[in-house]
Amino acid sequence: MLLWVTQANGALHEVNAQEGQTLLSAIQNASVDGLVAECGGNCVCATCHCYIDEAQIASIQPADDDEEQMLEFVAAERKDNSRLACQLQITSNMDGLKIQLPDRQF
Ligand code: FES
Repeated sequence: MLLWVTQANGALHEVNAQEGQTLLSAIQNASVDGLVAECGGNCVCATCHCYIDEAQIASIQPADDDEEQMLEFVAAERKDNSRLACQLQITSNMDGLKIQLPDRQF
């Protein structure tokens, strides 16, 4: 499936994603800069922060308690549509999902 990832500078990227992989993995595989992912996807660094399109966020699985706690430590503004890309599993209903990357991860 295809995801649409916009970097902080406005550059739009088409990202291929497979069901079962994480959003972090999909974006890294596409070589789109903007996620640091310092902890390697273990939900302890909050440097894989991204924003999910507000119109689409209700259709994806909510953050669990660990992700919610780590979202308190994101560097850029935390919003209602903030998620950690390493904790978001790609599911079949995500085709066309739009993701905005923040301007900083530290
Ligand atoms: S990569 Fe560290 S919290 Fe997601």
